[in-house]
Amino acid sequence: MVDTDWADEVRTLARERDAVILAHNYQLPEIQDIADHTGDSLALSRLAAASEASTIVFCGVHFMAETAKILAPDKTVLIPDAAAGCSLADSITADQLRAWKAEHPGAVVVSYVNTTAEVKAETDICCTSSNAVDVVASIPADTEVLFCPDQFLGAHVKRLTGRDNMHIWAGECHVHAGINGDQLAERVAAVPGAELYIHPECGCATSALYLAGEGVVPAEKVKVLSTGDMATAARHTSATAVLVATEVGMLHQLRRAAPGVDFQAVNERASCKYMKMITPEKLVRSLREGTDEVDVPAATADAARAAVTRMISIGH
Ligand code: 13P
Ligand code: SF4
Repeated sequence: MVDTDWADEVRTLARERDAVILAHNYQLPEIQDIADHTGDSLALSRLAAASEASTIVFCGVHFMAETAKILAPDKTVLIPDAAAGCSLADSITADQLRAWKAEHPGAVVVSYVNTTAEVKAETDICCTSSNAVDVVASIPADTEVLFCPDQFLGAHVKRLTGRDNMHIWAGECHVHAGINGDQLAERVAAVPGAELYIHPECGCATSALYLAGEGVVPAEKVKVLSTGDMATAARHTSATAVLVATEVGMLHQLRRAAPGVDFQAVNERASCKYMKMITPEKLVRSLREGTDEVDVPAATADAARAAVTRMISIGH
């Protein structure tokens, strides 16, 4: 139940600060509901770039707020808790990427948006889970690709593009890597007839396709989707039950999109502690006190901007 005094205070403070509140699909339900926009990484980046508000309050994790600052350097970008990090973004540093590039001169670097601003500054094109396939497909077929940092998303993109000149960094998100094939097989057996929504960062993405290949689940019921594309699929589904392999915050958005459908987590413990650091209290404090302000050094932001701008121009 949303506290109406809290909601009123948030709305009043946001108006006074000329702030737009953006929330990722993994945020706490109260935060998703109060935000001006809730969505996936690509949609939120586009909204940050297009917003007319002078302040963006980013309810998500630090790399998302940094991406907003790169796209909108003249705006004030706030995150209610700057300690909200990301294990996937931590899995490659700019020094590591520079060393990898030196081993593959001429290769095009594609970095997932879940990276630091310093890594983006070393990148040719960024991507998100919703446009990664389109981004890699936009690179000439005879050009080597370095894809970082997520190994499961990389494997998914490699499978769909059929590219054999794509090198994949061995990083992972601890939350999605922990959703494994055994859990998926168990849930599929327990809920016969369910559709599967699988985020491509999941350790079980290959297992889902294996289950389809073996005829355990009809292939058309297996959907590998970004969080935003899951919400869109939910609005159009005729399924009565859907098994969801991603961070559990997503269930709130799916249940709002399709209240009659039984959405169940493949792994109920798949909760991102960083996303959950953004609490209702911290959102109010952020709006009241202007904390925590996100700054990206101008040289880094300038070096990263082209890669991020390419990202938001590709895909649906
Ligand atoms: P999307 O919302 O873009 O699918 O990304 C998920 C994610 O891992 C954010 O941390
Ligand atoms: Fe990072 Fe994983 Fe949390 Fe997403 S769910 S913010 S990839 S740690």
